[in-house]
Amino acid sequence: MSIDNEFDIDFDELFADEEEENFLPATGEQKPEFSAIDISTKAFWARTSEERDESFAALRRTDPVSWQRPVEDAVTPDPDDPGYWALVKHEHITQVSKDSETFISGQGVLFDMLPRLFLQMTQSFLAMDDPRHNKLRKLVSAAFTPKQIKKIDEDIRRAAREIVDELVADGPGEVELVEKVAEKLPNRMFCDLFGVPEELREQTATSAGDIIAWADLERLGDRSPDEVQVEAAAILHDIAEQLIEVRKNAAEPSEDLFTNLMNAEVDGEHLNEFEIGAFFVLMAVAGTDTTKHTTSFALKALAENPDQLAYLREDYDGRIPDAIEEFIRFASPVMTFRRTCVKETELAGKKIIPGDKVVLFYPSGSFDEDVFEEPHKFNLARNPNPHLGFGGGGVHFCLGNQLAKQMLRAIFQELVFRLESWETGEPELLGTNFMRGVKRMQLRFVPAPVPATVG
Ligand code: HEM
Repeated sequence: MSIDNEFDIDFDELFADEEEENFLPATGEQKPEFSAIDISTKAFWARTSEERDESFAALRRTDPVSWQRPVEDAVTPDPDDPGYWALVKHEHITQVSKDSETFISGQGVLFDMLPRLFLQMTQSFLAMDDPRHNKLRKLVSAAFTPKQIKKIDEDIRRAAREIVDELVADGPGEVELVEKVAEKLPNRMFCDLFGVPEELREQTATSAGDIIAWADLERLGDRSPDEVQVEAAAILHDIAEQLIEVRKNAAEPSEDLFTNLMNAEVDGEHLNEFEIGAFFVLMAVAGTDTTKHTTSFALKALAENPDQLAYLREDYDGRIPDAIEEFIRFASPVMTFRRTCVKETELAGKKIIPGDKVVLFYPSGSFDEDVFEEPHKFNLARNPNPHLGFGGGGVHFCLGNQLAKQMLRAIFQELVFRLESWETGEPELLGTNFMRGVKRMQLRFVPAPVPATVG
């Protein structure tokens, strides 16, 4: 199979169609002054997460629901964009996440107001509201229940073992961690789940990465952010179409998620190829980069906190469930999602009216000192740990959270025991306001001695 670049979708028309009937107009109501603590600049997002949290901490103390000017790194900058409410406290992020009647996702979950069709094409039910969201989510949930995940547990463990076999094969050394370790397991599991053939796997991973990298200059090269997103989405839809064709023409039905989706019914109707393609795009992004970045940050944190590594090694099976929650809190790979207000309401004394954009800053909520004692301490025994890494609860809570935890458990099981020691270099971070990601990071490691076999 190959990518033929013959797309059925007219992308120019897609972006020209801005006057969708359900788009609410920007509000004319008087808003407060833009916050003096400006979290919309490119400079702000170029800082480290520790530096950013100094600003978030100041907002948490002084102005937990602040009015911010439009973010600089938009995919499609809009001169009429009035700004957004920034939610930085755990309490407000969970409140809004759980109130999907007042705060909807159907007008987009990123900073920008993107055309509805483009949202449907790339974000599937992540950017939909009930009842449609619920129907689509139910349809695919079956593949992600703990019972289903248990079934693929052995595959995940085997893949993790093979990845670390390759890493340690040449003895002590230095490698680029993202390529050699962190991205391998989530990419492989995603492609296995959907039955993506070997020759399309690299392209799938590259395009999934492009979708979330719209503000990363290195990744963009000389292309514009919307060009990169549209092209990547088109390639992923094209791959999905090819996978559908193969299954339609196969003599024997396959047993992968893709086949289940083709056979599934919503309201007595099958999903069409566009809807299946959109779900494929959502999963390619949601299911791979998040787990990959968590792996990179957790390896770094363990190297920098040898007491925590020793603590984990003492009782891996007993301690890994809590440790994983802390890996995710510390990594906080998804930094922002947006909702749009559709019913007048109040948050922290601020009047929020229909049409207002409300942005949830998950890492800020996961480091909220009113909820987490010593939030900047990497503490694998932290329990309870109500971090917001998978969202603030409610109907959009991460569908793949069990699968993500399973992958993290398997890869760290190998790394923690088969590496005697390791250290990491400084990470090169992805330049976006959406995903806190590591592009590259060096890993120097010494493999653990292999126990001698008898006989
Ligand atoms: C450490 C890894 C992961 C993190 C940090 C993460 C984070 C998130 C977040 C923050 C949301 C939005 C929640 C909300 O709006 O309330 C989300 C939604 C979602 N995630 Fe994950 N995710 C991870 C792994 C995965 C995996 C492995 C999959 C699937 C294979 C997945 C599939 C999804 C889907 C389908 C949604 C949309 C759910 C909906 O709108 O109903 N995620 N994830």
